[in-house]
Amino acid sequence: MKALILAGGKGTRLRPLTYTMAKQLIPVANRPILHYVVRDILEAGITDIGVIISPETGESVKAAISTIFSGWARFTFILQDQPAGLAHAVKTARPFLGEDPFLMFLGDNLIQGGVKQVVDALAVGSAAVVILLKEVADPRAFGVAVLDDRGQVMHLVEKPKEPPSQLALVGVYGFTPLIHHAVERIKPSWRGELEITDAVQELLHTGHRVDARVLEGWWLDTGKKDDILEANRIVLDEYTERRVEGVVDAESVIAGRVTVGQGSRIIRSTVRGPVVIGSDSLIEDSFVGPFTTIGDGVVMREVSIEHSVVLDGCSLERVGPVEDSLIGSKARVRRTDGTRRTLRFFIGDDCEITI
Ligand code: TTP
Repeated sequence: MKALILAGGKGTRLRPLTYTMAKQLIPVANRPILHYVVRDILEAGITDIGVIISPETGESVKAAISTIFSGWARFTFILQDQPAGLAHAVKTARPFLGEDPFLMFLGDNLIQGGVKQVVDALAVGSAAVVILLKEVADPRAFGVAVLDDRGQVMHLVEKPKEPPSQLALVGVYGFTPLIHHAVERIKPSWRGELEITDAVQELLHTGHRVDARVLEGWWLDTGKKDDILEANRIVLDEYTERRVEGVVDAESVIAGRVTVGQGSRIIRSTVRGPVVIGSDSLIEDSFVGPFTTIGDGVVMREVSIEHSVVLDGCSLERVGPVEDSLIGSKARVRRTDGTRRTLRFFIGDDCEITI
């Protein structure tokens, strides 16, 4: 079986960050989202992996995968000239996919528990497609599935105003080559994209069996800023371990599960976990509170921050309390007046802000 990761797209909902970086490379607990995706695929035993890339961010996606995972799997990078939909991505990858069954994984989705149950269900061979579903309180922003009493899919609706069930489609699919014939038959939707739900619906219309598995663990679709913060919160909560490789002076307090990377220095500061701090960062006279990730080479002086993600190379001076913020790499934020108000930022790379 092969795998196809979708790491193209526009990422408009994550601008301004996605003007300069691929959304699949935004770090969660200091690892690009895409790394969790590749790890799940490798853990399911698949080592022949195609990656859909866009002209704008393709090179950085290639580099991010190759530096960590080459040697573990064979990667084929496939350029999609425009983000014309998930089914268009499948069509673009047809020469790579050939007549093999494949696992498709959206490169901006994080799930708990891996994808083995989808791979195993597809390998049984009785269904044309296996989809993964998650029960959510409000499924209106997602594809929604209706199942019969045997757990087989009866139909799918994309972003329904009145959802017929609570079962949202998670960005993980198991496909047999039958999907290619369905993709050839569908037309672009009202938003001009070839929709994968239409292709699966087409298979249902023509009498094919579509099975579903329901995900018990969490699912995070990191399309927007608050989704990134939520993903960061959950991943830090679950995986952070206490490991201090940098230097912590005698006046600092490190409480709970905190990771401090090599070359980082914590001076006269309090860090309350779960927190991950990368390497070569300086935290001075500051408070870093729970659910915060700080990248490499960050400088913070007189800052109070929690529930935030700060990317590599940022400099923050005399600001805070800062919360619920996503700060792009090499951004510089400093306060020159004496006031202390709570601040919430969503700042792109290389910005300079003085308050
Ligand atoms: P989406 O989040 O649906 O689309 P997008 O990345 O263009 O974002 P936005 O809506 O904010 O503009 O895409 C889901 C995943 O699939 C994501 O990892 C990007 C990828 N993708 C492709 O690779 N090709 C495509 O044509 C599309 C639409 C998405």
